[in-house]
Amino acid sequence: MTTKGMVPSPGGEVLIRAPAKINLGLAVLGKRPDGYHEIETLFQAVSLYDSLAVRRLKRKAVRLRAPDFRGRERENLCWQAAEIFLGETGLPGGLEVELAKRIPAGGGLGGGSSDAAAVLLGACRLYGIRPSAMEMARWASRLGSDVPFFLSSGAAVGTGRGEVVEPLSSGVPRCGLLIYAPGFELSTPEVYGALDPAGLTPSRRRFTMLVNSWKKGDAEALGKRMFNDLEEVALKRFGELRDAKTALASGALGAMVSGSGSSIFALYDDGATARAAAGRLRGRLPGTIRTAHFLSQRHHWGVVKR
Ligand code: C5P
Repeated sequence: MTTKGMVPSPGGEVLIRAPAKINLGLAVLGKRPDGYHEIETLFQAVSLYDSLAVRRLKRKAVRLRAPDFRGRERENLCWQAAEIFLGETGLPGGLEVELAKRIPAGGGLGGGSSDAAAVLLGACRLYGIRPSAMEMARWASRLGSDVPFFLSSGAAVGTGRGEVVEPLSSGVPRCGLLIYAPGFELSTPEVYGALDPAGLTPSRRRFTMLVNSWKKGDAEALGKRMFNDLEEVALKRFGELRDAKTALASGALGAMVSGSGSSIFALYDDGATARAAAGRLRGRLPGTIRTAHFLSQRHHWGVVKR
């Protein structure tokens, strides 16, 4: 995500589109003493968005308007992002965040993380604050392992617990993309917790080969080489996901669970093939099926004008 193009309106408001991500590769390398897992992942931003409005408040407070959110306000990452911003900057004012969700929650698509990054970027823009990239990354990583990725755009390699991000600068592979959300959520801590460390076979080579396929723009190789060490846990937990994956894989270059699930994405030769597959599968699979595309670094998902 970038603030380029985010337009602060005279009333002190920015409107932001926060994109989803998929993980084209996710290797779990081992468990760390701090309880997290050491991973190597290939993040790819995709054209499925939540919408946010971030506004200035005169008094020092955080207000969240999120009609689709069913939890305690403080558990929402947008609320936490606003708190961190106000705490770290020590500004006298406050923030109001209005959030309209389209990215399914608990789907391994990074919606909550993207929203949180959008609040940080939007708040900086509203208040005219320019923290260093390192400082922003530090705030973001306090919010969650996936949040730093959303401060950049396009694709990136994530290491550590996912928070150490190295953007990939070449053009994105051209292919069709379909994203299936089954209509139920999977908990990231539960999925990581169910991993059997003895079952991990860390091979750095498969990750290097995957990233090389991405860099070459070779969608066919990408489809063949995609992998996700968390996938089997998700598929074991919900047998119907395995059937959905089989259905999505038919005619695709590859299909895979994203992150810790529950969503599954599939790559196709082109957009038309993806749309045809979506037409075939809608009605056959419960939940929602959407076509999308990879976002490159050139995409600014800043603004919606007002
Ligand atoms: O960083 P985040 O808050 O998104 O992580 C949620 C949970 O997922 C962590 O508390 C941890 O249980 C698990 N996790 C992990 N290893 C990672 C990322 C997340 O074990 N690399």
